[in-house]
Parts: sequence; C-alpha cells; structure tokens
Amino acid sequence: MNVSGKTAVYGVIGDPIAHSLSPTMQNAAFHELKLDNVFLAFKVPTTGVENALRGMRGLSIQGLNVTMPNKAAVIPFLDEVDETAKFLGSVNTILNENGNLRGFSTDGAGAHHALEENDVDLKGKKLVLLGAGGAAKAIVFILAKEVNELVLLNRTAGKTDALAESINLKFHKKVTVKTLSSSTVQESLQDADILINATNVGMNPHSNESLVKPASIKPSLVVMDIVYNPRETKLAKDAKDAGAKVVDGLEMLIYQGAASFEIWTGKAAPVEVMRQAVLKQLECGR
Ligand SMILES: NC(=O)c1ccc[n+]([C@@H]2O[C@H](COP(=O)([O-])OP(=O)(O)OC[C@H]3O[C@@H](n4cnc5c(N)ncnc54)[C@H](OP(=O)(O)O)[C@@H]3O)[C@@H](O)[C@H]2O)c1
Repeated sequence: MNVSGKTAVYGVIGDPIAHSLSPTMQNAAFHELKLDNVFLAFKVPTTGVENALRGMRGLSIQGLNVTMPNKAAVIPFLDEVDETAKFLGSVNTILNENGNLRGFSTDGAGAHHALEENDVDLKGKKLVLLGAGGAAKAIVFILAKEVNELVLLNRTAGKTDALAESINLKFHKKVTVKTLSSSTVQESLQDADILINATNVGMNPHSNESLVKPASIKPSLVVMDIVYNPRETKLAKDAKDAGAKVVDGLEMLIYQGAASFEIWTGKAAPVEVMRQAVLKQLECGR
C-alpha cells in the first residue's frame, strides 16, 4: 500500500474496535481496484461521536463505517439519512459528499445478498427470526418485502411487538410475535422455510450455546446464523448435521461491507477478494 498526499481516508468508528475485520476487508478491496484509498479503525465511544463527525468533515474523511455502540448516536450529526436507516434508527455507513454527510444502513442488504448469493429463494416463504435488536430489525426491514410470513421471537416480548407493528404497517405481511423459549422455537419451526438467528447467543465465549434444539431442524430448513465469531456456531453445526442448508454470519458481514464499499466508490465490490482477506485474518487470529 503506497500512502501519498493524494490518498483518500476511510474508516470505521466504534468501541471496542481493535477486533474489527473492516480494515482488512476494505483495504483488500481498495487494493484490488487500485484505488488510492486507505481504511483505518478509530476507537470512538458514543460520547466522542459528535467530535468524530466534525473531524470527518474537517479532515475530509471520505467515508466511515459505524459500529457498536454508535449506530444510533451518529444520526443527529448527519445531514441526510436514507429511508432504511431512518426506519431502523441505525446508520452503519456514512458518505462524505463535499462536507454533506449522508447516512445509510447496509446490514439488511448484507443479509439479503448473503441469502441471494447462496441461492436461497425468499418469495412466498415463512421466515422465523430470533432476536429484535439492531441487526434483527435491519434484516426484517429488507426481507419482509419478499417473504410471505414472519414469526418474530425475542426474549424481551415488548421489543418484538413494536417491530411487528411497524413491519405490518409498512409491508402488510402476516407477522406473529412470540416470547422466545425452546417450545416456541420448536413450534414455530414446524412449517418454517428459513430460520435466522439474530441474537448474541452462540457468540464466543459462549460458543457451545444455541437457542434451537437439533431435533427441531429439518433438512428442508435454511438456517442463517448472523453470529460470525466463532466461524461456525453451534446452531450452524447442528443445522449442517441435520442436512439443512447453512448461510453463515461471515457472508452477511462481507456483503454489508461490500454494500458500503459500493456507496463510497460507486464501483462493484470485489466480494471474493474481501472474503479471502477476512478468512485470512480470522485464520491468523489477528
Ligand atoms: N454478520 C453480520 O454482519 C452481523 C451484523 C450485525 C450484528 N451481528 C451479530 O448479531 C448479533 C446481534 O447484534 P445486534 O447488533 O442486533 O445486538 P443487539 O441490538 O444488542 O440485540 C441483541 C439481541 O440478542 C438477544 N439476546 C441476547 N442475549 C440473549 C440470550 N441469552 N437469550 C436470548 N436472546 C438474547 C436480545 O434479546 P433481548 O431484547 O431480550 O435483550 C436482542 O434481541 C451479535 O452477535 C452481532 O455480532 C452480525
């Protein structure tokens, strides 16, 4: 990488940030397309968001990804927020157009592309979604346009009610909400086509946990676990063992990064290069 006086700066802001895969993924993509850009990680707690975005303007940082815990906190300091990000109250990508800061959310598009690229047909299908946090909302907002029926399960019931109501109002789809338990998961999966885990369950250091009993997974089910740390979650392994199709969380991560790249550069993202860079970093354990 040759950094010069002309190199454009991009980055990701969050806290913690040292574990982020985005610098590796985005720098590999910039390099592949021979773009004179560099991508850095900036540790920014929520209290530092306003200053960080002033800095973005002042230093002409061309684009930022925004990660935990800042996805909502950046919104008041942006000039424009796209429809999806506004609905979600969450921004993960900022584009700096001559000082005009525009916010987007690419998490849902990442999940959608991950499913599409793995040949998962969503039309007319019944989707069971576990979780009602930021990622779950982003996924539902995009997938609700295509699936026929949704079942939303969350540990804290009130959160799912609000999400279901807004999906119902916007997309006029059949949405059932249930409190998450092993019996509600089991009964919801009986005639489901697609299951997405959008909770933290299964994440390291609790990688031996899953909200789904292996016996509830039929071979015809498509299972997507958006947790990508560990690379293969217990749910993903159980689903593979049951003969079900599995789409892992890394795919969503790569496609949301690819969507950010396309917003910043206007060029098609070199997805395979980004995937290999991320896999290499994970293998090296950096
Ligand atoms: N692959 C990707 O590109 C990608 C992108 C974004 C996020 N993620 C991953 O997705 C996960 C969720 O992220 P988020 O941003 O949506 O987090 P969040 O907003 O904090 O939401 C967390 C969700 O997990 C549920 N949950 C947490 N612990 C649980 C437990 N022990 N049992 C049942 N439910 C539990 C929460 O339920 P309550 O409402 O009851 O608390 C909530 O629905 C994280 O692992 C994150 O790394 C992956």
